[in-house]
Amino acid sequence: MAQQVQFQLHATDGKARTGVLSTPRGEIRTPAFMPVGTAATVKAMMPESVAATGADILLGNTYHLMLRPGAERIDRLGGLHRFMNWSGPILTDSGGFQVMSLSELRKLTEEGVTFRSHIDGSRHVLTPERSMEIQKLLGSDIVMCFDECPALPADEATVANSMRLSMRWAERSREAFGDRPGHALFGIQQGGVTPELRAESAEKLVQIGFDGYAVGGLAVGEGQEAMFGVLDYAPDSLPADKPRYLMGVGKPDDIVGAVKRGIDMMDCVLPTRSGRTGQAWTRRGPVALKNARHADDPRPLDEACTCPACRNYSRAYLHHVFRSGELISSMLLTWHNLHYYQDLMQGLRDAISAGEFSAFEADFHARRAEGDI
Ligand code: GUN
Ligand code: ZN
Repeated sequence: MAQQVQFQLHATDGKARTGVLSTPRGEIRTPAFMPVGTAATVKAMMPESVAATGADILLGNTYHLMLRPGAERIDRLGGLHRFMNWSGPILTDSGGFQVMSLSELRKLTEEGVTFRSHIDGSRHVLTPERSMEIQKLLGSDIVMCFDECPALPADEATVANSMRLSMRWAERSREAFGDRPGHALFGIQQGGVTPELRAESAEKLVQIGFDGYAVGGLAVGEGQEAMFGVLDYAPDSLPADKPRYLMGVGKPDDIVGAVKRGIDMMDCVLPTRSGRTGQAWTRRGPVALKNARHADDPRPLDEACTCPACRNYSRAYLHHVFRSGELISSMLLTWHNLHYYQDLMQGLRDAISAGEFSAFEADFHARRAEGDI
């Protein structure tokens, strides 16, 4: 097993890439989708079940874990992997994004962010240095820089100032992270939907030097067309020999479009969150299990899917348990959704390896256009 974090590309097809990111805790096949385990759990799933869906790596959140149960406590209990019983790699977000969207009474300065917890109102401070310390206490394998992500639309001066602050914080994050063999630090590109700002951000990050590069500041209200517009050029300004991570994306069609444009890693709450609200994602698009048309339907959600929800249960049952508010509804639909997402990633990896990305993409869209059975 690798003692360092190393990225090896195996094949490319157009701008799409497939490879392996090796860490001491295991290999991450790319393009990779990372299920979100915000509060030291992928909601409604046992970790071994998450692994069974094909996930190689999970995402955890600095913001949530520092507030509850606390980073020092997790460290005393042996680190996040042991705490949550996940032995594979974990990537942690830095808190910069969540503090702006979730906390109360925020105050942003050059130094960092002061805020009140959304849980109990207690006062906290996050700086690049403290974020690096927390992610180290958690035992994160892939640490993210502390950044600020403005909601879009925002005027260009606001986006420029925010991006430059994030770049100064990236420098402080790099300095505070230091040299930690076996652990990686990723920079985060900002700059909204302005090509010049994206270029300036990329240049600064490359100058500092990171083990991987994230495209941040997207999927924050700009829409898919504008997001793809940025992805048409943003990944090209990031080093080809390092992994590129698109943060917080997305729907299955966002993922296919992002991989086509050179993205290697992604995360999103969508498959897990929608699993808890009765929405399933299948090859034929989204399916709302609460819909009365499923009430007498003995067929599986997707006859081609090999997940437990599809192998062992009918649409009628999934409809019934969702309508009844039964916990198994969240369990089965989350499992299916994560399985579908990982199937999609395997399909993308295989298609890129075979030089058949275009055919895969055409088939993906054709099946969705057919709609649910
Ligand atoms: N999650 C989604 N977008 C972002 C971003 O721009 N920065 C961080 N840190 N996390 C994100
Ligand atoms: Zn299924």
